[in-house]
Amino acid sequence: MDRYTKSRAMLARAAKSLTGGVSSPFRAKAPVPLFFADGNGPRLTDVDGNGYIDYALAWGPLILGHKHPALVDAMRRQAEKPHNYGAQHELECEASERIQALAPCAELVAYSSTGSEAVAAVWRIARAATGRHRILRFEGHYHGWHDQALISYRPNPERMGREDMPCPTLDSKGQVANVVENTVVCPWNDAAALERCFERYENQIAAVITEPVLCNSGCLMPEPEFLEGLQRIPRERGALLVFDEVITGFRMAPGGAQEYFGIVPDLATYGKAVAGGITLSAFAGKKELMESMLSGVAYGGTFNGNPLGMAAAVATLDVLKDGSALAHANRMGMLLQDGIASAARKAGLPLQITGFGAAFSLHFTELATLRNYRDTLQDDKERLNRFIRESLDEGLFLLPDGRIYVSAVHTEREVGETLDAVGRVFSRF
Ligand SMILES: Cc1ncc(COP(=O)(O)O)c(C=O)c1O
Repeated sequence: MDRYTKSRAMLARAAKSLTGGVSSPFRAKAPVPLFFADGNGPRLTDVDGNGYIDYALAWGPLILGHKHPALVDAMRRQAEKPHNYGAQHELECEASERIQALAPCAELVAYSSTGSEAVAAVWRIARAATGRHRILRFEGHYHGWHDQALISYRPNPERMGREDMPCPTLDSKGQVANVVENTVVCPWNDAAALERCFERYENQIAAVITEPVLCNSGCLMPEPEFLEGLQRIPRERGALLVFDEVITGFRMAPGGAQEYFGIVPDLATYGKAVAGGITLSAFAGKKELMESMLSGVAYGGTFNGNPLGMAAAVATLDVLKDGSALAHANRMGMLLQDGIASAARKAGLPLQITGFGAAFSLHFTELATLRNYRDTLQDDKERLNRFIRESLDEGLFLLPDGRIYVSAVHTEREVGETLDAVGRVFSRF
């Protein structure tokens, strides 16, 4: 019996007016892009009435799950008030004061609407501050979909070049080809390679940008030696360090990966969890860098600082600020990891789990450690797809790349149900 009949019918209807029937092509996934009717806390219901435990969390933002009372209340109150002034209002500083208090690098804050925009803004600031044109980024990292950002995110193994000096590759048709001239691509988790890139492109690199945890290519953790290199090498060479905390921010810890690793970058980008699921992104950093936007670095945005986003950020950050909600999310994630790992061992499956509590990934691989994007190419993708597909039938909603997000409202009940479901799936492998 097909559990997804209504989703299939809605997709067919949507495709007549909405390109591909989905709002983001990343969401077009097997068995059919599901259409949802409702969500509560850590759970979702689709239009066919199937229930799921949600581990996709809208690709990360729903750190408080669905319809958290604090957010519902804030949105309800804000709905009665003007939805945009295109001018100043008090909630803007209510939100930036909270970000400043939590994010170690945030001497000053600015708002945008998406992570892609925040990344574009900090790169411009870095180029203006250093007078250099290249951004050094790492293979397998995602920093948004715009021309400059979408380089060597998912490089084709045939064109990606040497492991120690990857060849920059465009990730989309229609991209301006000469963006690679403003880019340096470096293997991740390799301080010596970072040093070599700076030697090769002496005085050309404005900034090094990294996802502090490589969440977009399998939630890989940075090694201590690499973190030391990240802190030291750009500074020694006159470049800035940028943390793209669009995923790790307000998820890994209240102060994001910066707090977790004890590293304060010059600039950082935020999105996703900052407003608990309402549209908002932000960037922050050293005062003199941020203030360059007052003297020649152009930046703007119709929806910047919009009241709904601001109210959502204030409500979300107030829940997160004392650390207990994220400590809980990370604890639930560790329980899941332990349970899934032991179920895999029991079933004799070669499984590696990488990441931290509230964001981790499953890799069906024979490798004992995964350090960078190229290591993930050895993952058994077919097995992963089968796991995701069968988990869906068991009521687990997972992202298509095997990444699992855990919120502050997942409880031991969801963990228990999930481990039972995973055990059933593994027993059929
Ligand atoms: C690390 C990182 N940076 C930037 C972005 C782009 O954010 P957005 O999709 O809001 O443009 C994403 C999106 O997933 C991301 O994961």
